[in-house]
Amino acid sequence: MRHYARILAGAAVAAFMASSSIAAELSIVHGAVGKDNEVLRAELDRFEAATGHKVTIVSMPESTTDQFGQYKLWLSAGAGDIDVFRLDVIWAPQLAEHFIDLKEPAADTLDQYIPSTLAGQTVDGKLVALPMFIGAPALYYRKDLLEKYGEKVPSTWAELKATAQKIQDGERAAGNNDMQGFVFQGAAYEGLTCNAMEWVASYGGGNFVQPDGSIEINNPQAAEALKMAASWIGTISPKGVLNYKEEDARGVFQSGNAVFMRNWNYAYALVNGDDSPIKGKVDVSTLPSGGEGLKPAATLGGWELAVSKYSKHQTEAIELVKFLNNYENQKERAIVTSRPPTLTAVYSDAEVGEKQPFIPLWKPVLDGTLARPSAAAKRKYNEASSEFWTAVHDTLSGNGTAEENLAKLQAKLTRLKGSQW
Ligand code: GLC
Repeated sequence: MRHYARILAGAAVAAFMASSSIAAELSIVHGAVGKDNEVLRAELDRFEAATGHKVTIVSMPESTTDQFGQYKLWLSAGAGDIDVFRLDVIWAPQLAEHFIDLKEPAADTLDQYIPSTLAGQTVDGKLVALPMFIGAPALYYRKDLLEKYGEKVPSTWAELKATAQKIQDGERAAGNNDMQGFVFQGAAYEGLTCNAMEWVASYGGGNFVQPDGSIEINNPQAAEALKMAASWIGTISPKGVLNYKEEDARGVFQSGNAVFMRNWNYAYALVNGDDSPIKGKVDVSTLPSGGEGLKPAATLGGWELAVSKYSKHQTEAIELVKFLNNYENQKERAIVTSRPPTLTAVYSDAEVGEKQPFIPLWKPVLDGTLARPSAAAKRKYNEASSEFWTAVHDTLSGNGTAEENLAKLQAKLTRLKGSQW
């Protein structure tokens, strides 16, 4: 009898704890592109219905660079009003101290993840964030236009330039003055770092900080890559591309006014969406390479969910990040937002393969992506990246030659590194 009484008392305590957590009001911050807000809201509604908690979305500007600046301010002030942060794949080494270690709380789910996605979020043994989706770029192209002009999908940047020019000229002559050859992310921010890393690596020029921390960016292959990209501005790409972020490029492409676009996975569901003027006319391929015998490169992107150490509702916030990353939600995001999941099993889900055939095909591209040097440059990554995108942006704007800007970049990065990163 006493035994049962103890069990009953235990159950009452558990019920009390569950009911006391029902009142939790949480907030999650993320920078949305495309349908992100809508999809997240639907997931949160289900979370609220299942748990009784309430969750508010704090929406940020699209630019990851702007988000980073704001998050750093909030976090260094120890602000407790945001419980869950959606973090860019590159931020863990710089922001680790502000988030709780998810290794124990998420231990029951970790073996479901693609191991490299967890490795990227682990800093000195601490699991800073749970990977929400992976990002990798594609070359989006208009199949109808390539067919009309008897052209094939370019495998080198030189081919891309020639094909883009030919189709742009042809379409303009036929009356569409707005037609552009190639759009990408050319604004001075982290997105340009991602694009330019691909150009440089695809010419065999390495990375702006090498994986071992050395700085070898002032090299002829890197210069060649930047010269090629600079030659697009005002020819196959509008001058305005120097202010484009992801959604600007997608806007031009989706309205039917570009032949090629470099963008992340999320654009796929949107350009092929029911309300897209180019639905059914788009396909994707790997980005071009610098030339014969050189390999194309794809920068690794993606977003992660982290629980603030200043949150007053850590238990519920952990419940939320685990919920958002469960199989059903990752599957939904794969289908609705064409985001590659971080759980291995979703790649072989038959419904995902049927509704978003692009996702399973994406797995090999993801396995070969190029990581930004955030682990090598540690807490100085953001500054290093900003030096890189500035050198690239200057070159694209005609402000100094590729050689001059790379020599300056080499010197600046060397100074920034000092005796060690
Ligand atoms: C995408 C990527 C992210 C990257 C950003 C750059 O959102 O997922 O990792 O930093 O683009 O604009």
